[in-house]
Amino acid sequence: MRPIVPTIALLILAINTLWFVAYSAQLGVQGLLSDAPTDLSLVFTENATVANASLAAHMVAGAVLTIGAPLQALPIVRRRWPRMHRRGGYTLFVAAVVTGIGGLGYIALTGTIGGRWMDVWFAIYGVLIMLAAANTVYFAIEKDRQRHFRWAVRLIILAVGSWIYRMHYVIWYALTDGAASNDAFTGLFDQIQVFAFFLPYLLIAEIGLRLFHVEQRSRPVSKSSSQPPKS
Ligand code: HEM
Repeated sequence: MRPIVPTIALLILAINTLWFVAYSAQLGVQGLLSDAPTDLSLVFTENATVANASLAAHMVAGAVLTIGAPLQALPIVRRRWPRMHRRGGYTLFVAAVVTGIGGLGYIALTGTIGGRWMDVWFAIYGVLIMLAAANTVYFAIEKDRQRHFRWAVRLIILAVGSWIYRMHYVIWYALTDGAASNDAFTGLFDQIQVFAFFLPYLLIAEIGLRLFHVEQRSRPVSKSSSQPPKS
């Protein structure tokens, strides 16, 4: 694949997430600085200082992750500025861990608005995001180019997953005026959404990676470049 195709795709993706990145970063910073975060948004809980701080920190880190992951994968960054790519990789790993731990902390301390079903799927999402970030960095250090690439693809999908979740709602409400969805997030649409914002996309990516043996074309790391595709 010519680098221009992934470059345009990644830039379009990054630009489209900007509104959500700005919203998340702003609410997160305000939540961290405010004495009364419940005045800012319904997502914050009365008398839950630790859970609210945890959620606010996860919003700031999540914003960095959402915009950072597609930009980090730009072919020009990987090829021309490997040092920036390396530093960006460690930064995104930290962002993924803070996002995941912050979200998991909030789930453990107060639970989500959608109840147990949403708790479980959001927790799975949080664990997967940290796993993907850890593996992406690990295989980069190991100089296993193919596995690094595959985990990076998974990480990008998970990183923009929170934005996809909101986009599904925007599109669904525009088309159906919110059929099978309610304020308590217990409608059929809500219950499907808790996994539909990342699982199908991960599945499609797995099929694509396996069928077409999509590989990173760029120069870095080659210790295992002669090995067959794994993971
Ligand atoms: C990947 C980047 C992420 C971003 C940018 C992000 C951003 C946000 C934002 C802005 C909110 C506030 C809700 C709203 O106003 O719409 C929120 C809520 C929440 N997020 Fe995330 N998030 C991300 C990933 C995650 C992950 C990985 C988890 C799982 C551990 C998670 C768990 C939660 C939970 C539990 C809530 C509260 C839901 C509720 O009860 O209302 N988020 N997130």
